[in-house]
Amino acid sequence: MIKIGIIGVGTVGTSVAQILRDNADVISARAGVNIVVKSGVVKDLNRDRGLDIKLTDNVDEILEDDEIDIVVELMGGVDEAFEIVKRALRNGKAVVTANKALLAYHRYELQEIAQDIAFEYEASVAGGIPIINALRDGLSANHIESISGIMNGTSNYMLTEMIQNGMSYADALKNAQDLGYAEADPTFDVGGYDAAHKLLILASIAYGIDAKPEDILIEGIENVSKDDVEFANEFGYVIKLLGIAKKDADMVELRVHASMINKDEMIAKIDGVMNGISVVGDKVGETLYYGPGAGGDATASAVIANIIDIARSGKSRPMLGFDRPMEAGLKLKSIEDIESKYYLRINVSDKKGVLAKVTKMFEDSNISVETMLQRPTSSDSANLLISTHTAYERDIQNLINSLESLEFVNFKPVMIRIV
Ligand code: HSE
Repeated sequence: MIKIGIIGVGTVGTSVAQILRDNADVISARAGVNIVVKSGVVKDLNRDRGLDIKLTDNVDEILEDDEIDIVVELMGGVDEAFEIVKRALRNGKAVVTANKALLAYHRYELQEIAQDIAFEYEASVAGGIPIINALRDGLSANHIESISGIMNGTSNYMLTEMIQNGMSYADALKNAQDLGYAEADPTFDVGGYDAAHKLLILASIAYGIDAKPEDILIEGIENVSKDDVEFANEFGYVIKLLGIAKKDADMVELRVHASMINKDEMIAKIDGVMNGISVVGDKVGETLYYGPGAGGDATASAVIANIIDIARSGKSRPMLGFDRPMEAGLKLKSIEDIESKYYLRINVSDKKGVLAKVTKMFEDSNISVETMLQRPTSSDSANLLISTHTAYERDIQNLINSLESLEFVNFKPVMIRIV
């Protein structure tokens, strides 16, 4: 029998305990051994979770319990979780976690500490989709050319509601929280950080890149408005929050941002809380992964897959997919060298000569306009909705700063990258 201790019995932890009980027949047959939850650590012992497992508020009762084989860390957060997971590994316990923030900062240290002890984290990226398994094992013969996808269910749910049902940003966020999709602090979802944590994990498995959130371009969906959604629609795009990793010779670019993508792309059709990730390998070509990226049962499904795997073999593969570094390592491309097409919404005073001055600034910033619309927003102001040809990130940022300083530009222009 394999005994589990769960640290953090919230939405996902409760689902893990319930599924281990409800699906015990298939789980024990697949694992070749019975798997039971021995105890769980919670902050509030008075809340009834409807589970028949022993609950405690003392983490030592799991970390120091010799009977517990696998520690399942579902508490979230970085520093405290890091200390707890390190202690679990040092006490020889296998670890399964869904904690992407922890891995975004400490995955290489954890790999070093874990060595041969199993450390698994399938649920940390895209909830129920087995993307870690696919990338680490299924595609391991390939050089990975790109990874791009919808990696945050909350923001995808919100954008879908805003685009398809005209829901306000605030209502969409509240619904996502009520449905249990959002992080404890939803700025992680709408600000792009949750997707960035996931992208960094995938980038390590695909490229061996050790980057932290501070090193990469991260933007969220907070500034997306109805005007942008309408422009996108008119020009054949939808707006999605994408995580993108792309190899270019010996450089890799990593970025998370709201993106206008062609309506015909498969990823454009992924709506609601669903996640969808495209991975292109040099030999396999494009592969696509689609499924629920958040929610208790979907995430618990991935957690339990890891538990079964450990119960079967008791061993760890190279945690981040590389047994040793590649001779010609890849480097992270700097943010300002990233190239993209851009959409800008510039709210201006509707006066003579303004358009000419704005377009002159594009020329001065070395940026070529592709399409342009002007839409009045009041009797004396208008939105200029402009898309560009491919330009450098450094040039677009300079342009935005210059535009913002103009007296007839009413507020900082909003920019969305066209992918
Ligand atoms: N808050 C996350 C999301 C949950 O919305 O995708 C899964 O990581």
